[in-house]
This record gives sequence, C-alpha cells and structure tokens, in this order.
Amino acid sequence: MAKAPDSNPGPVLVLLGGTGDLARRMLLPSLFHLEKDKLLPDGLRLIGVARDGQSADQYRANVRTAIAARETVSDEDWQRFVPRVDYFSGDVTKPEGAKALAEHVGDYSELVIYFSVSPSIFAAACQSLAAAGLITDKTRLVLEKPIGRDLESSKQLNAAVAAVASEEQIFRIDHYLGKETVQNLIALRFANIVFEPLWTSHSIDYVQITVAETEGVGDRSSYYNEYGALRDMLQNHMIQLLCLIAMEPPADLDPDSVRQEKVKVLKALRPMSRATVAQEVVLGQYGAGVVDGKSVEGYLKEVGKPTNTETFIALRLFIDNWRWAGTPFFLRTGKRLPERRTQIVIQFKPLPHSVFSASANQDMVANRLVIDLQPQEDISLLLMNQRPGLTQEGMRLQSMPLSLSLAKAYSGKDGRRRIAYERLLLDVFRGDRTLFVHRNEVEEAWRWVDGVTDAWLEAGLKPKQYAAGSMGPAGVHALIERSGHQWHD
Ligand code: BG6
Repeated sequence: MAKAPDSNPGPVLVLLGGTGDLARRMLLPSLFHLEKDKLLPDGLRLIGVARDGQSADQYRANVRTAIAARETVSDEDWQRFVPRVDYFSGDVTKPEGAKALAEHVGDYSELVIYFSVSPSIFAAACQSLAAAGLITDKTRLVLEKPIGRDLESSKQLNAAVAAVASEEQIFRIDHYLGKETVQNLIALRFANIVFEPLWTSHSIDYVQITVAETEGVGDRSSYYNEYGALRDMLQNHMIQLLCLIAMEPPADLDPDSVRQEKVKVLKALRPMSRATVAQEVVLGQYGAGVVDGKSVEGYLKEVGKPTNTETFIALRLFIDNWRWAGTPFFLRTGKRLPERRTQIVIQFKPLPHSVFSASANQDMVANRLVIDLQPQEDISLLLMNQRPGLTQEGMRLQSMPLSLSLAKAYSGKDGRRRIAYERLLLDVFRGDRTLFVHRNEVEEAWRWVDGVTDAWLEAGLKPKQYAAGSMGPAGVHALIERSGHQWHD
C-alpha cells in the first residue's frame, strides 16, 4: 500500500534481499542492536524487499525469529523496534517492480538502499530504481561484496552504479572494516608514537597475516566455487588489513585521505609472474577430516563435481616502495582449518650487535608484535627480559609478552563484541565513508589479484589437498622457510 504524503517525512532504509542469509544473520540483528542502544535515526522506517509475496506481518514475525536465533528478544525492545519494520514484495530489477517500490516508500528525508543481493542484479536494479525516481541526491547506496570477479567485471559493476549515483553516495562494505579490532589497528599505529619510527623494513623483518576459519563452504558452494579463497577473502578483507598495516600515516581520517594512502600501497604491490608464482603461492583444497572433534566431508563431496577452486591460499608478497623494500608479507587464509583465528604478526629484526655472553645469546629471540583480531582481541609485544635467579653461566634471558587484553579491558556494557555491521550501518546513516571502500581501492586490488590468477593459470598451478582440520597443504611451510622464516602458530 502506498504511503500517504507526509509533511515531515523521516529516513527510510530499503533492504534489498530482506529475507536473505546476510539480512537474517547480520543486518537485522545489527539494526535491532542499534535500536536497543537508541542509535537509530529518529523516525527511520525499514522496508525489507524480496520476491516471495509474504505479508508485512509475516515478515515482522520472521524478523523476530531471525534475531531470536542469536539472542533473547525482550517484548519491550521488540515493541520499540517493530513499528519501524515493513515489507515489500516485488522484483526491483523490473521497471514495474521498482515503480511499485517507489510508491510504497513514499516521501523520505533520506533514503538508504542496501543491496544485500547477488551482484549479478546490481546493474539492472540500479537502472530501474533510478528510472523509478528512487535514486536522487538524498539517496545512499550500500553495496555488498563481491564487487566483481576480476578487474573487468568490477569496472563494469562500478560503472553501472556510477551511472546513477556519485561516488560520495556509494558505500561499498567490507565488513572487516567494521570490526572494532580492525579499527584498532588505526589507533595502534597512529595514536602511539612508539611504533612509527620502527615501522619500516629497517626494523621489520617480515609480516604475517592469517585468517583461519573452521567453517567449510556449507550451502554457499555454488557462489564459493566461482570465487575461491583468493577472491572471497584475500582480495578484500586481507588486502584491507594489509593496507592498514602498510600505508603511510594519512593527513587525517577523512575518507579521501585514507583512501589515497591505501591506493598507494595497492599500486606498489609487486606483480607476480608465471616464472615466480610457484615459489610465491600455495593453493589448497580441503579433503575429509576432523574439525572441532567432528568428522567433516571434503570440498569436492560438498560441491558434487570436480573443481580446482582453492579453499586455502598462502602467498608471499612484496610492497615495492621506500618503507617496505625487501620486507616480505606472508598472507594465508583457508576454510576447515583447526581453529578460527585472525592474527597479524609483525616480526622485528634481530639485534645488530649483542653485548651478551654466548649462553645468553642462545636465549635471544627477536622482538615480535602479535595482534590477535579474533576470536579474542589481544595485542602482545614480545620483549627480551632478564631471567631471574643464579646460574653458573651468569645472566640468562627470556622472551616475555607485554600484553594488552582488550577483551578483558572492555568487558562491560561497551564490550567489543559488536557485530561489525552495527558500526557500518550507523556510519551509512551518518554519511561517514571513512570505513567504506572506494572504487579505486577495489579496482587496484583486482588489478593485482588478476595478475596473480593469470600467473598461476599460465604456470598450471593447482590446489593441493589438505585434510580438514590441518593447517593447509604441505608446501605452506616451504613457502615461508625459503625466506628463512616460520609461521607463528
Ligand atoms: C565473508 C566471506 O566475506 O567473510 C566468507 O565471504 C567468510 O567466506 C567471512 O567466512 C568471514 O568473516 P568473519 O567476520 O567471520 O571473519
């Protein structure tokens, strides 16, 4: 039913894919949390959009069930939230569907259209929504990944969206940037003076970034099989982590200042070639095994057909600029690994000269900064320390952590266990693009990733099997040992 003209209309959030997996697991619970914290904009209406013809009342009941699947929903909180929730059934890629949605939306002060749908329909939906008058200068568009499958398709997708909205209106989500822990990297680097003078290849030997997951691909296999670990995780989330670690200090936290520094890192990524790729990249695919004490099937069984899609990737990359010349970055990510862990390790170089005795030198370990992002959030700096007590050999040393347990420090109401989407949704409502990904970043990241996939296809690189529950295929250790280093496990 069309909404009557309103003399003082409020903001509207249109959630395309309003019954989908992401909406149910993340977006609706995040909006509910913002409601509980009284952070939703006054008068905000939420219109879930899908094509299944359910009634608004049915949709509201389904929204409650989705939120209740992760937490207790009190009647009081629900009664505050539910008047905002509405539903529209239709196909917005078709002109008539978009027109009917526009009538349903009616007046608004600001309109956010969240594309929680397959990117294959972004272009058609943008066109018909624009033609229906729903994309004006009061509209913001929120796009979920994947923004393309390679440089060419990402350019096409970005161009289709740019045809109806300016870059300032487009909010590309990388949910890793909404994690408190990831934002803390910015605080760690730029709110402390101690690290910056050491944050170069003069003092840093190498950097490791690990994103390990215990989950398999589950019911997402048709999507995942087209993408694989490189395109699903490394091109976006891990490259964003890399940029935050490697970028120069921006002039301020303005979205353009931050974006410019990230793009410089992306442009400096050393391309891979057919000749080097086999030394620089290891691909894996999980077979059957045991994870968290449970037997699980192999990837091929889940997909049900032969495929060379990688569910694990480890690689060594270099950033060819003054700050990072010669420092290798080792990145690895995979599904069905033994534990869930996102961790960044900054390994400092050994001392240039030791003043200690031979026996004390045996204890010597180079300093290391370990940043655990999830599941627990900890930062520890491994420092050498004198081991107390008397020995025949004289002074002995010991490596000990100087630790910051952020989970403990913020365990109260302001606990850091928020869903990443809460922060990002709030920023969309506030119009703050700092934590969103600019078109240039997406395209530069694809440019480098395309070079990696071209090189491995030319070199005929195939994924090697690893047992589910192991830390990847055999070659993963050789990859790092060739540089004289080891994975921090
Ligand atoms: C998504 C990927 O972007 O990130 C998934 O498509 C992956 O395959 C997920 O499981 C990991 O996110 P998180 O927040 O659980 O680390």
